[in-house]
Amino acid sequence: MVPESDSSQNGRRVVVTGAASGFGAAIARRFSVSGARVVVADLDEDGAKQVAAELPDAVAIAVDVTVPEQVQAMINKSVDVLGGIDVLVNNAGAAHRAGPMIDLEPEVFDAQFALNLRSVFLGVKYAVPHMPDGSVIVNTASIGGRRPRPGLTVYNAAKGGVITFTRGLAAELAPRIRVCAVNPVGAQTGFIRTSHGVDKLTGETLAAFVNGIPMARLAVPEDVASAVEYLASPEASFLTGVCIDVDGGRSIQ
Ligand SMILES: NC(=O)c1ccc[n+]([C@@H]2O[C@H](COP(=O)([O-])OP(=O)(O)OC[C@H]3O[C@@H](n4cnc5c(N)ncnc54)[C@H](O)[C@@H]3O)[C@@H](O)[C@H]2O)c1
Repeated sequence: MVPESDSSQNGRRVVVTGAASGFGAAIARRFSVSGARVVVADLDEDGAKQVAAELPDAVAIAVDVTVPEQVQAMINKSVDVLGGIDVLVNNAGAAHRAGPMIDLEPEVFDAQFALNLRSVFLGVKYAVPHMPDGSVIVNTASIGGRRPRPGLTVYNAAKGGVITFTRGLAAELAPRIRVCAVNPVGAQTGFIRTSHGVDKLTGETLAAFVNGIPMARLAVPEDVASAVEYLASPEASFLTGVCIDVDGGRSIQ
């Protein structure tokens, strides 16, 4: 068995993608508050710099997670800055516009799989050689990857791939590195702009969404950050291949 090195996130070297906004920004903040040194990686360089500027010892790195050379460069730069990687959070992603699957163009399918699934493969491929024993990978999947409903079928298929990738990789990397995922339900983040074309869900659309969630609210970024930090912590040292539903019970129904 490989013991994890510390009883907190103190001094742990953490890379979070998609960390300029939403879940990723909350994850970066959560790790930083717990004493980690964080790389805030995002396509939105200005947003990443803003989040990093709030946090002690954090560094912003611009990356497009769909481009292999950029992911490799981001990982190499993270290793230069941090001296290694103890926790990799593959969180960057976005949906296509919600609607009937048959209306989507083939290019949208390819772009969705590149952004939401291949990006996870790339992050892992380039980071694992730099991750010591006891390291952890956490991927942001989606409850739609496990309990899909109509409207985001291609996105949900890619996130289903993230769940299967997480579990397969967990088997492959054990006992050296743990690999887990979170499956969030909808939240009012930048995600809503691409999925619904609005800044925030309101009115009947919001009510219908909340109505399907037993806990009677959407997720907030801190719900996801708590789950990610737990999965990456030594308290979760026997958990691998575990994909936690952060969904207020939505998948029960
Ligand atoms: N908000 C939701 O309803 C919801 C539900 C389930 C899962 N998710 C997933 O959570 C993750 C985070 O999304 P969020 O809700 O915080 O949305 P968000 O839009 O607030 O944050 C996503 C971040 O990813 C970045 N990003 C997008 N494309 C990128 C690329 N090619 N390279 C690097 N960075 C890129 C964006 O700039 C942004 O900062 C995504 O994987 C998303 O699919 C979101």
